[in-house]
Amino acid sequence: MTLRLGDIAPDFEADTTEGRIRFHDWLGNSWGVLFSHPKNYTPVCTTELGYTAKLKPEFDKRKVKAIGLSVDKLEDHHGWSKDIEETQGAALNFPLIADPDKKVADLYDMIHPNASDTFTVRSVFIIDPNKKIRLQLTYPASTGRNFDEILRVIDSLQLTDQHKVATPVNWKQGEDVIIVPAVKDEDAKKLFPNGWKALKPYLRIVPQPKG
Ligand code: BEZ
Repeated sequence: MTLRLGDIAPDFEADTTEGRIRFHDWLGNSWGVLFSHPKNYTPVCTTELGYTAKLKPEFDKRKVKAIGLSVDKLEDHHGWSKDIEETQGAALNFPLIADPDKKVADLYDMIHPNASDTFTVRSVFIIDPNKKIRLQLTYPASTGRNFDEILRVIDSLQLTDQHKVATPVNWKQGEDVIIVPAVKDEDAKKLFPNGWKALKPYLRIVPQPKG
């Protein structure tokens, strides 16, 4: 099944380093970041998981739960987590799904046979509190992901869910944003009473709304 933005993230049951979970129940009312990595005891994955553990305060601030996945067995996850703590200076503080039967990997199309028919690619799904998929990323095994970018997208999604704005290229929290084209100038006057800078009628820039 092809998963697309706006689809409900498929639910599943799986064993993780923090016990057996049913995904939707585990998410509760939080946002979620579900990400796969190719294989345990590999260097790039080790750095990614250590960095994700360090970002926990940032995920918590945004009410986001992170969860990783590989097609390795649960006992391998436990052994590898000691290496992550030793080499990256951060212990795993989020669950890792053990998916040796590739059930979750197949559900989320995380195995791309022309890249590898045994290992998952580096997939990322950002899931909102309504369980809708809001972002998908696919990276090759040889390229570690930029988890700061994942936080940046969450900031954009949470902001643009609240306000009639969109975020421009390379936007970061606190920078100016764009009034969405669907808002006519007469309505924009009520929403943005301090005005905006119009570079073109369709390119209207305002300070990032608060709250
Ligand atoms: C890594 O995580 O280092 C890795 C995994 C699979 C292929 C290449 C690199």
